[in-house]
Amino acid sequence: MPTPTPVPPWLDELSLKPGPPWLGMDAHSLAVDAWLAPDSDHHRDRQWKAALLEQRPASVFQARDTPAVRVASQEVLDLIMADTGITEGPEGLHPLDAAGRMVQEDLCLMVLRDGAAHLDAASLCFPAYWRLEEKLGLPMAAVHAPVPHYGEELSDKVDMFLQRLRPERPVWRRNWAIHDDPSYFLPDPTPPYKGRAPDGLYLRSERQTLRRLTRAEVVLFTIRTQQVPLAVVADRPELAHSLAVAIDAWSPELVAYRGTHGARAARGWLATR
Ligand code: HEM
Repeated sequence: MPTPTPVPPWLDELSLKPGPPWLGMDAHSLAVDAWLAPDSDHHRDRQWKAALLEQRPASVFQARDTPAVRVASQEVLDLIMADTGITEGPEGLHPLDAAGRMVQEDLCLMVLRDGAAHLDAASLCFPAYWRLEEKLGLPMAAVHAPVPHYGEELSDKVDMFLQRLRPERPVWRRNWAIHDDPSYFLPDPTPPYKGRAPDGLYLRSERQTLRRLTRAEVVLFTIRTQQVPLAVVADRPELAHSLAVAIDAWSPELVAYRGTHGARAARGWLATR
């Protein structure tokens, strides 16, 4: 018999308050020495990244060639080498690419220019249904254009938050989603889930951090992707119930945006755990 997947501690960090409002900042302050969150998947995640960077370089690494991106990328590499204790990076790579290969996190540079934060560079191997090529160079509001309620509930708050973030006060937040495809690299739409929950379903979450850099007007956004089979939640009835209540409260627009990868099918199963 296969060993059951243990219940990971990050399940207790999910924001499950039912809407409305449906979207929240849910940003928590973070000690600089607890910035990144390496775990036992470290080796596997870095191998997946190396393979994607080899096979699909333009899909997973993009950087505008600007002074802010150049300066910030070197700062990120220096921060990550100090944080990981890695003393020698791979030769001949863009510093943001080198930095991305050292950690499990995806790394996005948000350049503060023209009154907004713009996604001007990223090492992004584990996208959840979005393409880096399509978002490069866009301001936050345009990056989030497909997200229902973002314009009215979140856009101004996020813009103001990113402008005011201070280097000594990084933050973390988490999102969560139900997926029917276990791949960490998911840039493209997939067909709707047709199975029977919890078969083939996963609870996926991103631990995101935001950290203002010091050498350029740039915020570093890190995304750590974590995932467990949804069936793991059977051992946590309260969590299953909260997930069902949160999904129940989604607006029709959110159901259309988030619901096709198994969340709707999962709801009934979760409610009866
Ligand atoms: C405090 C900062 C941020 C907040 C509160 C926030 C919030 C959100 C929310 C609520 C969603 C919808 C996902 C869901 O719940 O189903 C989302 C999606 C997304 N966010 Fe953010 N976000 C933030 C920062 C960023 C940054 C810095 C980036 C830069 C890469 C980013 C990129 C995206 C992308 C690409 C999506 C998917 C959009 C799509 O479907 O095309 N977010 N974000």
